[in-house]
Amino acid sequence: MDNPDELLCFCNRCTWGQLQKLAGELLDFERVVQVSGACTGCGSCQFDVEALVEAAQATGAKP
Ligand code: FES
Repeated sequence: MDNPDELLCFCNRCTWGQLQKLAGELLDFERVVQVSGACTGCGSCQFDVEALVEAAQATGAKP
């Protein structure tokens, strides 16, 4: 992510920064989709959203 204000999900106008924050809070792909609406349009952002959630799980998961 170069710019957190850059759109990740163009269909639902979600930025990288918004989705990274949600991923860190929710640590669950389905919940991030429900809350943000990302990935509910064309689906082309799904890979990147999943990657954000996986990265957040790897660094933020509580034991
Ligand atoms: S870019 Fe996210 S659903 Fe189309």
